Amino acid sequence: MRRGESVVSSSKSRVIAVTGGLGFVGKNLVRSLAAAGHQVRVLDIASEDRVGTLPARVSYREADLRDGRRTSEALADADLVFHLAGNSSGTVSVEDPRLDFETNALGTFNVCEALREKEGSRLVYLSSAMTYGQPQRFPIAEDHPVAPYYPYGASKLSGELTVKAFVETYGLSAVIGRAFVIYGPGEDPRRAGAEVGQYLRWHLNGLPIEVTGDPDRKTRDFVHVSDIVAGLTLIADAGEDGEVYNLGTGEETSLAELVTAIGRVSGSVPDTVVNDSITDDTYRLVADISKLRGLGYKPSVPLDKGLTDLIQHLGDHPAPPMLDTIFRPSQRDARSAS
Ligand SMILES: NC(=O)c1ccc[n+]([C@@H]2O[C@H](COP(=O)([O-])OP(=O)(O)OC[C@H]3O[C@@H](n4cnc5c(N)ncnc54)[C@H](O)[C@@H]3O)[C@@H](O)[C@H]2O)c1
Repeated sequence: MRRGESVVSSSKSRVIAVTGGLGFVGKNLVRSLAAAGHQVRVLDIASEDRVGTLPARVSYREADLRDGRRTSEALADADLVFHLAGNSSGTVSVEDPRLDFETNALGTFNVCEALREKEGSRLVYLSSAMTYGQPQRFPIAEDHPVAPYYPYGASKLSGELTVKAFVETYGLSAVIGRAFVIYGPGEDPRRAGAEVGQYLRWHLNGLPIEVTGDPDRKTRDFVHVSDIVAGLTLIADAGEDGEVYNLGTGEETSLAELVTAIGRVSGSVPDTVVNDSITDDTYRLVADISKLRGLGYKPSVPLDKGLTDLIQHLGDHPAPPMLDTIFRPSQRDARSAS
């Protein structure tokens, strides 16, 4: 399958597999594919209780992608694979780098290996803007140097490199999306460390918003999960083999602007507690999405609209955020003192 064919719509009679289909992005993608009439297969490691949340007619295979044989078996009849499973938390990657590496790097290798000999298959790998590390140019285009500085970015980049190597060596048909900071319905507060979900969860519970870093200098490209779903589907259809596409909005929002927007759409001004002693990730992060726009992409959910919808989705007392920040000043101080 090459550029120019509509891979997703031509897969109606075939199986589209979504690894990590019980996760935040996966659930949204699965719902969209199932609503369009596709045969969808979810592969995930999750326990049975989350399987009940899948739309009717979506099949489920429990498979740990760290297990190569199991991964190959579960993907045996899949023609198009959206590979989203993995550790998505920077904090977890710092606490358990082996789990992070095995899940993201080895897991992605196993998916590539499963598809290597399969004629006509196509892979879409969801990577992360954390592969860029601390950005040097703005907005960040795909040819910006990659220099991840903590384990999660490194494991996602390992996945990318493996996908590219399989494209070059074995002719695997595959594309890579580098997502910026995703928000929207369906995030699990036990694994979600991104600002939009966290800030809303604190604010809706009447708690102060904990801002880590410099609220004015730290900016992010917050992209609604429905735009990520649209972007993934688009690159599946029209992306060039071996190419990377930024998945973002091209809009830059500082943390201070995010807090103001939350006050504006919720009708109550948030309290904030600013921890500006942690500045490791105080930098600008905004995508250049020209390459994706070149395939016909246009982000469709402005931040205020996305926040309004998410407030409605979360209700009055959502579970508060449960993840700590990645960075601990005490750890760094201990390292530099030794
Ligand atoms: N959420 C974001 O802001 C963001 C940004 C950039 C990239 N990404 C990437 O997008 C993908 C999806 O992220 P998400 O936010 O939906 O994460 P998530 O944690 O909600 O979902 C990940 C899913 O993968 C499954 N999984 C984990 N280990 C597995 C294994 N060994 N075998 C099989 N399944 C396993 C989990 O059970 C879970 O359902 C991840 O690869 C992440 O790196 C996310």
